[in-house]
Amino acid sequence: MIYFDNSATTRVWPDVLATYDQVTEKIWGNPSSLHRLGEPAWNLLEQSRRQIADLIGAKPGEVFFTSGGSEGDNWVIKGTALAKRKFGKHIITSGVEHAAVRNAMAQLAGLGFEITTLPVDEEGRVKPADVKAALRADTILVSIMAVNNEIGAIQPIKEIGEILKDYPRVHFMVDAVQAIGKGLDDLVFSDRVDFATFSGHKFHAPRGTGFIYAKQGRRLEPLINGGGQERGQRSGTENVAGAAAMARALRKVKEGEAESVKREQAVRQSIADHLRQFDHVHLFSGLNDHFASHVLCFAIEGVRGETIVHAFEERDIYISTTSACSSKKQAEASTLAAMKVPATVAESAVRISLGDQNTLAEAAAFNQAFDEIYAGFKKIID
Ligand SMILES: Cc1ncc(COP(=O)(O)O)c(C=O)c1O
Repeated sequence: MIYFDNSATTRVWPDVLATYDQVTEKIWGNPSSLHRLGEPAWNLLEQSRRQIADLIGAKPGEVFFTSGGSEGDNWVIKGTALAKRKFGKHIITSGVEHAAVRNAMAQLAGLGFEITTLPVDEEGRVKPADVKAALRADTILVSIMAVNNEIGAIQPIKEIGEILKDYPRVHFMVDAVQAIGKGLDDLVFSDRVDFATFSGHKFHAPRGTGFIYAKQGRRLEPLINGGGQERGQRSGTENVAGAAAMARALRKVKEGEAESVKREQAVRQSIADHLRQFDHVHLFSGLNDHFASHVLCFAIEGVRGETIVHAFEERDIYISTTSACSSKKQAEASTLAAMKVPATVAESAVRISLGDQNTLAEAAAFNQAFDEIYAGFKKIID
């Protein structure tokens, strides 16, 4: 099997799963309990928080556990809207955000917030000047992702942060779900970023784990009310095993990060070089430093994306149409639409997304499978 769908999800590492299992079995007390079963659970939760904070260069008080990227995105967006609605109702975002951001914005629009959705260039990137031009006295939030999940474009977070230094009251949120472990921490944790969202299952932790970074002093309203866990910010009995497993996975990701990025780049280059030889292939992801190491989006003109996905699946190679969330609904790829790629071409788009385990040998096997598949499609495309 060749698994090239790591942006959809990653396989939980065996030692991470072992941590999860051991904690579930042995440290099963409620962290809020006063008796002696609660204490080790609380200690482990806080130890996991400290580890994650250390790994991302934050303070423990700036890390809040969530159930994943969608929750984090919804929390920061709606939590800001609730906290700052007295000061303004204007929010700036981009046309290439994940559905978790896009649909949270749509919900707020229905509640009377005004959303400015910025266009992107042909690489799928926002222009910092457009952010500047869109800022108003009543702007409360700018939400721009770090790395796009469909084509891998890296957004100019640092430059946007520079602009926002003149707007200290505006919350700046970065969806960093696709950026973690990709050598991009300097971008995500530049000093003007107030909030960043992360999802454990994208870096070999179990599904249903995640966290947000929330800069000290920045206020969010909680969305989940109850017993006041997570310092009153996110109620619900904590997923201690998930937090411990996620901390372990993050440590491993960080230890192997430099090597893994280099390997991903080599694998991506090998596949891109191969694909470029074909007349009917479009590459949407660039190979320059505007793109993360792990995503390569391409189309075979005239062949639907799902047909390509299934052709590879028959050869035990797993890729996806452009995003796992939209792939089953056969929705048009929103990033490509924002890049003004014609719908007829966007329908043919598929995404390879690499992980630290992928190898050049797998790239060679993929390229060979591609030749066979392309030859099979020749009648349709010529
Ligand atoms: C950029 C981005 N944001 C948010 C999410 C949602 O994360 P989760 O699946 O953990 O809810 C994803 C998942 O694909 C993503 O790629």
